[in-house]
Amino acid sequence: MNAALVADALAGLTAPRKTLPCKWLYDATGTRLFEEITTLPEYYPTRTERGIFDRHGADIAARIGPRARVVEFGPGDGVKAVQVLGHLRSPAAYVPVDIAADWLKDAAGRVARAFPALEVIPVVADFTQGFDLPLAPPLLGFFPGSTIGNFRREDAASFLARLRAALGEGARLLIGADLVKDPAVLVAAYDDAAGVTAAFNLNLLVRLNREGGADFDLGGFRHQAVWNAEAERIEIHLVSLRDQGVAFGGRRIAFAAGETIHTEDSHKYRPDGFRALAAEAGWREEALWTDEAGLFSVWLLGT
Ligand code: AVI
Repeated sequence: MNAALVADALAGLTAPRKTLPCKWLYDATGTRLFEEITTLPEYYPTRTERGIFDRHGADIAARIGPRARVVEFGPGDGVKAVQVLGHLRSPAAYVPVDIAADWLKDAAGRVARAFPALEVIPVVADFTQGFDLPLAPPLLGFFPGSTIGNFRREDAASFLARLRAALGEGARLLIGADLVKDPAVLVAAYDDAAGVTAAFNLNLLVRLNREGGADFDLGGFRHQAVWNAEAERIEIHLVSLRDQGVAFGGRRIAFAAGETIHTEDSHKYRPDGFRALAAEAGWREEALWTDEAGLFSVWLLGT
């Protein structure tokens, strides 16, 4: 039994609008499915951001300067770090921060193999909470992939402020943010033809059955991605296909046909909106790079 998952899920599934925190999407299966999502034709963010790093690598490196000490929050498999560090001028240190020690080891290993002279210091910590860094300032934070979009707007501001405080005096931040665009492009990116995002979302119910003792009928729910135009975010939901009851945590949770469990938000930004968000958190824009189609943005922020 996963007590933290059960507690979160009980709170979320007994609320008037059912919800589950998106952090539970990322067990080993979810992480593998997310990696697969990043290679899908419809999921443009990863390859577009990579294109921006490659196209503007020299400019990014010039602005960042030599001997950067890079702190990455949630490094995944370390592939993005290898790419960006490869553009920088003699980077001095790389500090991946993640709560998942296994992933951290993978990322740190990949980066250390690619840059044998680099000092690599992994830090096991939940970077959404407080943490200490093993190096003195000035430090460059690295938060690619538009993961900032998975935070609620107000949480994004306080998180960015916390990063600034953790990075200390002279902090800078290289951060990716997905941009508002044609809703059809956005919905396709979160509801791909191959059904990988659907499997990623439904895996939450698999987890609740396995780790929480629930009896969700996986055939009784379907994945849904919707564009919330007012909040400028993609929402992913699990839609109940019929009236049904699910045993969970000693209760029976009732679902009406069409009722949804809201499982993730992915906020999209306009450049002005992101600039304002950053400013609220005490950051100022040093540079902004986008792709030609204006799909994605990469920012260098300073203090
Ligand atoms: C991790 N994060 C930036 C992804 C996103 O695009 O919001 C998570 C994701 N969910 C479904 N597809 C991708």
